[in-house]
This record gives sequence, structure tokens and C-alpha cells, in this order.
Amino acid sequence: MSDSDEGPELEARLAEQDVFEPPASFTDQANVTDPAIYEEFEENWPDCWAAAADLLEWEDSYDRVLDDDNPPFYEWFTGGKLNASANCIDRHLAERGDEAAIEWVGEPVDEANRTYTYEELHREVNEAAAALRDLGVGEDDVVTLYMPMIPELPIVMLACARIGAPHSVVFAGFSADALATRMNAADSEYLVTCDGYYRRGDALDHLEKATEGLDGVEHDTETVVVERLAANGDGVDHDLGPDQRTYDDLLAGHEGATVEPVSRDAEDMLFLMYTSGTTGKPKGVKHTTGGYLAWASWTSQSVLDVKPEDTYFCSADIGWITGHSYIVYGPLALGTTTMMYEGAPDQPDRDRLWEIVEEYEATQLYTAPTAIRAFMKWGEEYPAEHDLSSLRLLGTVGEPINPRAWKWYYKHIGGEDCPIVDTWWQTETGGMMITTLPGIGDMKPGSAGPPLPGLDVRIVDTAGEEIGAGEAGYLTVQKPWPGMLRTLYNNDERYIEEYWAEYSDVDSDDPDDWVYFPEDGAKIDDDGYITVLGRVDDVINVSGHRLGTMEIESAIVGVEGVAEAAVVGGNHEIKGEAVYAYVITEEGYAETDDLRQRIIDGVNEAIGPIAKPEQVIFTPELPKTRSGKIMRRLLENIANDEELGNTSTLRNPEVVEDIQRTVQGD
Ligand code: WTA
Repeated sequence: MSDSDEGPELEARLAEQDVFEPPASFTDQANVTDPAIYEEFEENWPDCWAAAADLLEWEDSYDRVLDDDNPPFYEWFTGGKLNASANCIDRHLAERGDEAAIEWVGEPVDEANRTYTYEELHREVNEAAAALRDLGVGEDDVVTLYMPMIPELPIVMLACARIGAPHSVVFAGFSADALATRMNAADSEYLVTCDGYYRRGDALDHLEKATEGLDGVEHDTETVVVERLAANGDGVDHDLGPDQRTYDDLLAGHEGATVEPVSRDAEDMLFLMYTSGTTGKPKGVKHTTGGYLAWASWTSQSVLDVKPEDTYFCSADIGWITGHSYIVYGPLALGTTTMMYEGAPDQPDRDRLWEIVEEYEATQLYTAPTAIRAFMKWGEEYPAEHDLSSLRLLGTVGEPINPRAWKWYYKHIGGEDCPIVDTWWQTETGGMMITTLPGIGDMKPGSAGPPLPGLDVRIVDTAGEEIGAGEAGYLTVQKPWPGMLRTLYNNDERYIEEYWAEYSDVDSDDPDDWVYFPEDGAKIDDDGYITVLGRVDDVINVSGHRLGTMEIESAIVGVEGVAEAAVVGGNHEIKGEAVYAYVITEEGYAETDDLRQRIIDGVNEAIGPIAKPEQVIFTPELPKTRSGKIMRRLLENIANDEELGNTSTLRNPEVVEDIQRTVQGD
């Protein structure tokens, strides 16, 4: 039991302990408790995944669990028909119609909290679905959503799902350019956005950014604007064009409308989500209705231990995959109460999250290591002011969690009474892949745990050979799973290239010859616990957000006065990684603070504030191999103040020391 009087002794014990048993108070009530599940799933594969499909309501049951005739274009639950919005709403109405589906905690500035019961959610989603259909949205039309954490975001997502229109949510913090790129790539003719929102108490204009983005869209579009600010009289004046209307106007005349959920094939697209990859262009990850929803539901139930009577709190933004799977689809499919909050964890004060947990008696908290490191820095007095005893389970996602942050979370948030699930997964995997099952497995801080039952995860060397415990290698998934992406939108070739080519025999039609490569490094211990070491491609992870170095570089070279740029991730105490930009100026341009600022602004404009460089380092040259490739590893060494690796393969070894001197002199 937690007892702060134990003070230093307890700290010392915690610091040394590296294995933690799940507390009996948790295991006694957990959804999954039988360790035999690992063996059973392995023996029964792929039929074991009927367990996930069984959590859903199917209009037509499926014929085959897995169709692996054409790898890596796997299909799951083929022949089955279902609708995601009916699964997330309608089927809960009879028993849970009056229970809260969504608890929305708005920015503190206008105290706009709101509870949506399943009945109310049903009504709102139906009206939105009817109105969108009237606007012309048909089955399979991609609808882009560009909104912050306001209730209309999940409502419109579910409305799209109801009429069989895939959504593509663009994180509200992304720039106008990023919006345009995604709408163009998806040929999306519909945009639902908002006039603005509150951040740290201030009203922000969002429509201006959206409108600027629309200017860059190559085809005709229809826009719907939710009046988050105008509804409070805080609106910025906007003249809506002929192809634009407010959300209220869109809904007018649809009060009480109901829309029969469109029957979707298990393999029909539920949504697209753009994410960063090795090359400059974001990748449109395609997720399907049956496999994805089954995966989000099954993992919510077995890993997050979600039960209908819970008040489950994930602090992510719905603009990222975590919010899709673990604020919207997984929890609602299970009929629980899911929370969403608007704003920031330190506004109005640094106890915002703890106040929410206490007030709503949240039963689970799922957040990111970057947030935990910030909480830790702010101090344990903030959570200590609140009663957090409603919490039963804690989770983390997005990046590796260091053992110290893990233990802080365990002690100061969980009161040493909650298991922590450190969940490794990706936008592409649809849901969790590597984590302990909280009612079964011991936890080891810093290690995500074993792969979930039914998954074949192996750590391999560059040749694809499995390697032994303790050695660093590459993470691979050697069998398909229901939640996996099906392809990259309109780009099957790139799908193979990005995820499969590395370790597969791409000419084979034998599924055993196909290996999924998530582009993470990892190691495994003697108990089969996996520690994920981070990305091995040109992707950096800033505060749990994936950013492609190429995207940032192309934004930087777009700035007047810049000749060349190389971007790497450097260690950062709170963010995990931060953006370091090495820049060569053009002839005739001086290395000034003004240029530095324009570079930062340029990145902000092209991608968004999350991608802004922590440091811009001017250099006359970049370290290059004889074949002309930039040696990023060395630039990383410099950013991290580490010993430089081998420089003998460089064309210009002297430049590295020059850069190092510049950085250290900074
Ligand atoms: C990293 C987020 C270590 C990893 C759901 C992965 C993690 C990328 C963990 C995916 C974890 C995510 N431990 N690393 N528990 N979870 N990652 O697509 O590098 O935004 O490839 O999906 O985050 O990021 P994405």
C-alpha cells in the first residue's frame, strides 16, 4: 500500500525493484485471467480471432476468419457484414440507453462540460448522418475532419461510419498545408471543421487555417463549420462561401431524423489516417470495418480491462490513432463511458487531469510517457491533492517509457494498486500489439512485455534471422492480425515497399514468406519480454508524435536563404525526442537569428507547432558518405552530445568536428 510516511525507504525499494506483480485487487476482477490464453491462441490460429469478432454484432456472419490467398493483402472475417456506428451505439440502446457514452470535459474557460448518453449520441449521430447524406456524401466518399477535441468530432466520425463514408481525421494542430496535402491525396471532397477553439484560455481561429488549406485543394469541396466559438459569442467573423455552411445550418431540418446503418462488408474501409513515413509524403493508412473494429474492441477489453460500467479516460487527441481506437471505437463498441477532454494538462493548473479523474471517478487512465515525464517534473503534490482511488488500471503508449517515469506513474498516480500496461503499437497496427495482459503478466518497467496472444513477433538481425535474448535487433511481425492496415490508400506498391519488402520474399504467394516490418528496433529478454528501442527509419518521435525527417527538411529548404537541411532527433527530457535541424545557407545569406526564426516559422507553417525545431544549427557542410548520403547517425551523436561513431567512411570527416564545435559553442 502507498504510504507517504515510508518516504525514502519506499523510494529506495521502488528504485531497485524491476518486476511488479499485478495487484490481487485487480486480477480478482480482470476480464482476462487465464494464462492458457497464450497457448490456446497459438494452437488455434487464426481461428482464435473469432474471439475478437464475437465482441461485435454482425448483420451477416463471416465465412472465413482469414483469407491469406494473396499476401500481403490479407483479408479478415470475409463475407461478414456489419456497421461500426450500429456496433458503437445502437446495440447498446436497449440496456444502456440512459448511461453516459461520452463524457466531454471542455476547456475550463467556458465550463462547457457535457454528457452524451447512448440515446443522445444516437440522436446526434443520426441527425448528422442524415444531414451529411443530404449534402451529397455517398458511400465510400472520404470525409475529412479537421477539428480539435470537441464532441462533434466523434459524432461526425460515427455519422460517417453510419453512412459508409470513410473519414480521414487531420489533427487540428497540423497546418493548412498538411490539411491540403491530405485532402488532395484522398480526393476528399468534404471537410468538416470548426470556427475555432480554446487553448490555454484563449480563443483560437481555426477556420482561417482551414480556409487557407482549402485554397490548396485541387478539386471542388463542400465545407461544414462547427461553431465552437460563435456558440459562446467568442466567434471571429467569417464570411462563409457558397460551398460552406455552419454545422447548425447543415443539421437544420434533420431534427429527429434516423438513418438506417449502411451494411458494410467486413473489408470495406472504415477510415484513413495519414501518418509520417520515410519519404516526404504522408502515408494514407487504410483500416477496415470488421478487422479494425474487432481489434480495437478486443484489445480494449483484454488490455485496458474495459467493462460497460467503467468511466474510462484516455487523454490522447482523437486526431491521432490512439484517440480513434481507444477513445472512440474500442470503448464505445464495448458500451462503456468514454471520456474526452479539451485543453491542456496544465490549464488552469497542473492538476487538470487529476481533477478530472477525481470528479468523474475515472477507472482507467491511458496516456503517454511524455505527459508522465511532465507530471513528474511538475511534482507529486499535484496528484496528491486529489482522490485518485477510482483508478484501477493505468496505461501508456506512443514511445518507450523509462523505468523512473514508470515507477513515478505507478506510485503517485496508481497508488501502487494499479497495473500499468505499456502498450506498443502503431497507426498501421490498428491497435495494441505488445503489452502485458494486466490480469496475468508481471510487469517490468521499461519493457512493454510479451506480444499479445495470437501474435508472432520476433526480433531479427539485418538478414532476418531471429536473434537471442539481450541483443538489439529489429522488430518484426510474422503473421497477420485482424487490426492490421490493408494497404496505403491508392498505393499498393508503397504498402509493400514500406512494410514488407525488407524481410519478405515479395515474389512468393506463401504467407509464411511475408514478414511485416514496423521499422522499430527492439530486444527481447529470457522471459520473452520486449523492450522497444525506437524507430530505425527516418522518423522521429516528438512527444509521442510521429514526424518524418524528410517532411521537416522539405519545409526547411522551402525557406528563402536555405540551401540544404538535415533533421535528426535528439534526446529531450520531456518530449523524448526533439527536432535538431542542421542547415546550410544559400550563397549571399548570413547565418542570422532572423533566418533561424524564419526556418522555425516555415516548419510551423508547413507541418504545425509540434514539428518546430528545438535547435537550428548552421553549418557550412553536412557529413556525407562517399556516395553522397547524409550520415544522420553522426548528426544524432552531435545532438545528443555523444561520442562520435566511425567517421572513416565520410567524404568530409573534418566537417563533423566543426559542427560539433558549433553546437557545443552554442
Ligand atoms: C512508437 C501510436 C515504445 C514506436 C500508437 C512506433 C512505442 C510508433 C510505444 C508508432 C511503446 C508506440 N513503447 N515505442 N509502448 N508505442 N511507440 O503510429 O516507435 O503514432 O513505431 O502510433 O511509436 O507511432 P504511431
